[in-house]
Amino acid sequence: MYQPKKLLGAAEIRRRVKELASRISTDYAGVDELLMIGVLRGCYIFMADLSRRLNIPRRIDFIAVSSYEERTVSSGAVRLVLDARSDVQDKHVLIVDDIVDSGHTLHYLVNLFQARNPASLKTCAFLRKPGRLQVSVQLDYLGFDIPDVWVVGYGLDCADRFRALPYIGQVDPDRLSG
Ligand code: PRP
Repeated sequence: MYQPKKLLGAAEIRRRVKELASRISTDYAGVDELLMIGVLRGCYIFMADLSRRLNIPRRIDFIAVSSYEERTVSSGAVRLVLDARSDVQDKHVLIVDDIVDSGHTLHYLVNLFQARNPASLKTCAFLRKPGRLQVSVQLDYLGFDIPDVWVVGYGLDCADRFRALPYIGQVDPDRLSG
């Protein structure tokens, strides 16, 4: 069976999530409540791990957008599939995504939430591919920069496979067809 090549192991991921959670907890200390908004679907494991590691009052919500549809390259046009349920006005909002690739998704979401008048708005992504950025995006918390390869696991997929892998692996999409 095809096995993704390991790029980031479970222990390394755990360590980094712990560090991010500690920074976020410090930065938001004293704030009434942090509203974490995860970007479905890829964020689901990172969001679960990060939110459980924070030691500040927080709520979680989710939003779903789509720009890839069936493609492997972003179309650049982001479509809102499912809106968050929370009213973000006057809330301290943290957008949580699994990966920043072209940057279009995060760019769209920052504009979307900024227009809703939050008390503050920050962004957090577990991975970023610096070589692929097409738009400049505000990224306040980042897990890892990675090379321009197709990554799966820890919530990320390739044609909906491999999301539950406990590590970040690299796949060759051409070898996965069928
Ligand atoms: C992925 C990922 C980000 C977005 C990043 O979502 O979860 O939200 O793409 O890409 P960008 O920086 O080029 O906009 P995807 O559309 O694959 O959906 P999924 O999370 O449901 O797998």
